[in-house]
Amino acid sequence: MKIAVVGTGHVGLTTAACLAHVGHDVLGIDDNPEKVDAIGRGEMPFYEPGLADIVRAGLASGRLTVSSDVAQAARFGEVVFVCVGTPTRDTGEPDLTQVDRVARTIAENLDGYTVIVEKSTVPVGTGERLRRTVEVTAPETAEFDVASNPEFLQEGYAIRDTLEPGRIVFGSDSERAVAVLMEVYRPIINRSDCPVIVTDIATAELIKHTSNAFLGMKISFINKIAEICDRTGADVDTLAAAVGMDPRIGRDFLRAGIGYGGACLPKDVKAFAFTSEKLGVDSLLLATIDYINRSVRGRFVERIAEALIDPVDKRIGVWGLAFKPETDDLRNAPALDVVRDLVSMGAVVTAHDPVAMGDAKALLPDIAFADDPYDAARDADCLVICTEWDIYASTDLARLRASMASPLIVDGRNIFEREEMERAGFRYLSVGRPAVGVNPG
Ligand code: UGA
Repeated sequence: MKIAVVGTGHVGLTTAACLAHVGHDVLGIDDNPEKVDAIGRGEMPFYEPGLADIVRAGLASGRLTVSSDVAQAARFGEVVFVCVGTPTRDTGEPDLTQVDRVARTIAENLDGYTVIVEKSTVPVGTGERLRRTVEVTAPETAEFDVASNPEFLQEGYAIRDTLEPGRIVFGSDSERAVAVLMEVYRPIINRSDCPVIVTDIATAELIKHTSNAFLGMKISFINKIAEICDRTGADVDTLAAAVGMDPRIGRDFLRAGIGYGGACLPKDVKAFAFTSEKLGVDSLLLATIDYINRSVRGRFVERIAEALIDPVDKRIGVWGLAFKPETDDLRNAPALDVVRDLVSMGAVVTAHDPVAMGDAKALLPDIAFADDPYDAARDADCLVICTEWDIYASTDLARLRASMASPLIVDGRNIFEREEMERAGFRYLSVGRPAVGVNPG
């Protein structure tokens, strides 16, 4: 099938490359010509394990091509996936400017029956808005349907999640559109045997926002419980493991830490709260998820400051800047707030991240960067862990301790066992677990 994908962000580029990988002819489109040229040369605009290989293979086979001409989308594809950004404004209101613009360009260039699929995460009602925009812009003879096909991929696992999804959701009131989408996904459904949920557009849109809000709720929930653990000497990791054994609750997304970041959960929780209020449904629960998530970062910094007694001129090493491991994505990364707060308190920060330091240099101009985790911690009064990259968990603790001015670690992701920290002679503060060698903050 001939498929166009508009937008080459995480969702768009992964979708384009994976659909080419399973045998379709795919045109990936982005209105940024430099980005398109780079992708055409096989250079990835962001770090995602395995993506470069699959994109390069698609380009080499000719099944994946790229263009910066959005008008090509409807002319090329029987199906056009809209994967452009849907940022939120400060109020939480989703900004649908890019979706609207792309919808108009698709409409002006419709050529034969086309299924226009919204894949970006959007508030409920956007599919209907897309349909109306296309309807008023397209020539009267144009034949099209609109569908929603929300994406559930996690950064760092984008290829796996796309080729072996846990579920596929099609929202449309057109049987013809659903049949076309079935054909698009047939190779993926066959190889992964995943369930397909066919529903109306509004339900599909809500499935996505509900999923991300629920994940955010689990994280904020456990982070609040971690605060109670900190006051009582209980251990949140043991607690979460036991609570998660109940299949009604589930083990995943109960890792206490410094909260969720990234391009999706923070934005989607806020957008869902905004939409809910707009529909006349109070957003207390959703707003509280966001409130807790923002407050855990501040609380973490307070605990670092308390452990240092006075952060002014203290040397702090920071491990991990990306919002989670296996990505270079710094959007809404808790580490950015933590580092900025520490700097504003007068601390001298040196940071390390295995892949996110390039972009971080522009965002954190007041700190130093080290190419090696041990160098970031050298002569430090405190080491702060913000992202649970695997390389940090396999640290040579004796070497680390010897290089630091003071053996204090404040771990925002609970990557170490308390006993191993005690044995290695560290003062160790983590999240929701009793402190080692220092009074709990
Ligand atoms: C999230 C969802 O997990 C995907 O299903 C969804 O498709 C995607 O958003 C999207 O809407 O596009 P992602 O943003 O890649 O995926 O990140 P997650 O893996 O969900 O992690 C989000 C944040 O939660 C990270 O900062 C992570 O450190 C944090 N987290 C996660 C915790 O603090 N505790 C946990 O137990 C799990």
